[in-house]
Amino acid sequence: MSERGSIEVRNLNKTFARLDSGGTLCAIEDLSLTVEPGEFVSIVGTSGCGKSTLLRVIAGLEMPTRGEVLCGGVPVTGTNPDRGLVFQEHTLFPWLTVRRNIIFALKSSKRLGANRAAVDTLIGKAGLSEFAGSYPHQLSGGMRQRASLIRSLAVSPDVLLLDEPLGALDSFTRMTLQDEIIRLWQERGNTMVLITHDVDEAVYLSQRIVVMSPRPGRVTEVVDVPMSYPRNRGSSDFTELRVKLLTALNFASEVEQEYNL
Ligand SMILES: Nc1ncnc2c1ncn2[C@@H]1O[C@H](COP(=O)(O)OP(=O)(O)OP(=O)(O)O)[C@@H](O)[C@H]1O
Ligand SMILES: [Mg+2]
Repeated sequence: MSERGSIEVRNLNKTFARLDSGGTLCAIEDLSLTVEPGEFVSIVGTSGCGKSTLLRVIAGLEMPTRGEVLCGGVPVTGTNPDRGLVFQEHTLFPWLTVRRNIIFALKSSKRLGANRAAVDTLIGKAGLSEFAGSYPHQLSGGMRQRASLIRSLAVSPDVLLLDEPLGALDSFTRMTLQDEIIRLWQERGNTMVLITHDVDEAVYLSQRIVVMSPRPGRVTEVVDVPMSYPRNRGSSDFTELRVKLLTALNFASEVEQEYNL
């Protein structure tokens, strides 16, 4: 497999030195995963199971302890503008306004002309029209996160790695941006890997959901989501997949209570 936008994680192990105790911490153990070009895959798992570490290795920000990662058939040895990463925390330049942050990213990626109208449309979708000329420190935490997300969506690299990009947002903004993520993904056809702790979000957005075990992170289950877009959060298929995922995450007793099983 060597197509642009493909990701292949082969027997990945990632160990960190523990400075406190002098030992080591195994964050990821023997994890293998293949993502097809243009596919939308979500990763779910409990806090600390190695999700961000996995994404950082795919991005080239961390090197594997053992195993390898290939993107587009080429071993990952460092970061590359073809792979964008939206971090759990925003990464806006503090000295640029929201609009300038996005235009700067578009210009430096050389992917799109900095079309101000398109940028402003995207800013509007994120509910930031009034703040396009504001600096990051003048925004709330959620607003900064939204600005950071739309900046990456605007650049739209071959592979977009999203680390809980909507985690800090209220449910209405979250739903609007989920639709915007789908719209842009369908328009651009790039590969999406999304980490989320929200099972509904994973089912709403992705074609495949990878469930990771608690540390050390491994793939315990891969759930296909064979539903067309746009998806109906209230449908029986949706609920069925939701229950399946919660069960895979070992929340079986909560599921029984919620659905009176
Ligand atoms: N740079 C680092 N140095 C040492 N340990 C690290 C480092 N990065 C991550 N870890 C450890 O690796 C484990 C996995 O961390 P990671 O951030 O990947 O988890 P996560 O699944 O993203 O969790 P969360 O859902 O809370 O964001 C944790 O135990 C963490 O302490
Ligand atoms: Mg994380």
